[in-house]
Amino acid sequence: MDTINVPRHVAIIMDGNGRWAKKRKLPRSFGHKAGASRVQEIIETSGNMGIEVLSLYAFSTENWKRPEKEVENIMGLLRHYLKNNSNDLRDNGIRLNILGKIEDLPLDLQEELKIALSKTENNDKMILNIALNYGGQDEILRACQKTMEDFLQQGKDPSSLEAEDFEKNLDTQGQPMVDLLIRPSGEFRLSNFLLYQCAYAEFWFSDILWPDFSKEEYLKALEDFSKRQRRFGGI
Ligand code: FPP
Repeated sequence: MDTINVPRHVAIIMDGNGRWAKKRKLPRSFGHKAGASRVQEIIETSGNMGIEVLSLYAFSTENWKRPEKEVENIMGLLRHYLKNNSNDLRDNGIRLNILGKIEDLPLDLQEELKIALSKTENNDKMILNIALNYGGQDEILRACQKTMEDFLQQGKDPSSLEAEDFEKNLDTQGQPMVDLLIRPSGEFRLSNFLLYQCAYAEFWFSDILWPDFSKEEYLKALEDFSKRQRRFGGI
């Protein structure tokens, strides 16, 4: 495979868990469990490919609308994932970062997140962003709020605003913009994921449901990306 043109930042919308379970006449929770078990291989492959940032959309600001039991199930899977895999992340040079409002998550998950964040904070091989209670519009509004506070505090004129004044207040501060956005499961939507950071992202869609999204499928997406001509508005 041509690995010359590797994306710096890959973002994945892990969609299709519910349909995967339905196809097998299983409860939705089985789909989420199968989806969670796909994650580690994709993280490892990303690290091995030299990707700098991998962003995984695990729970959106809109996902609270789901039945309470399903929300509890997803939170439990995340807790379980962190408990079982944070040492692996630490030992493989991966730094965990959370996108979204951590303070509204269940306290036991917040505790597990704190442990995993501190275990991995000195790593620099790859950043793993997990989007949790995350919405792109919410992130932009929070960043606007912080930027306005900065400007008021520093007595700066709004007309002097530069991109970096704003970008340093995003949850992805210091990270490259998204190069490749992957969405399996046959949907063609961004669903409020990394709206600002996807300005010039290449998109890759597939019919495969997330629990079936293998390393081979991921490599196909990366190979396809490596052939794209990106012009960033130029010619
Ligand atoms: C979307 O599928 C999936 C989610 C909202 C949950 C994603 C969560 C995980 C894969 C679990 C754990 C994550 C990590 C990082 C360990 P859907 O339920 O909307 O599927 P459907 O559209 O087929 O109903």
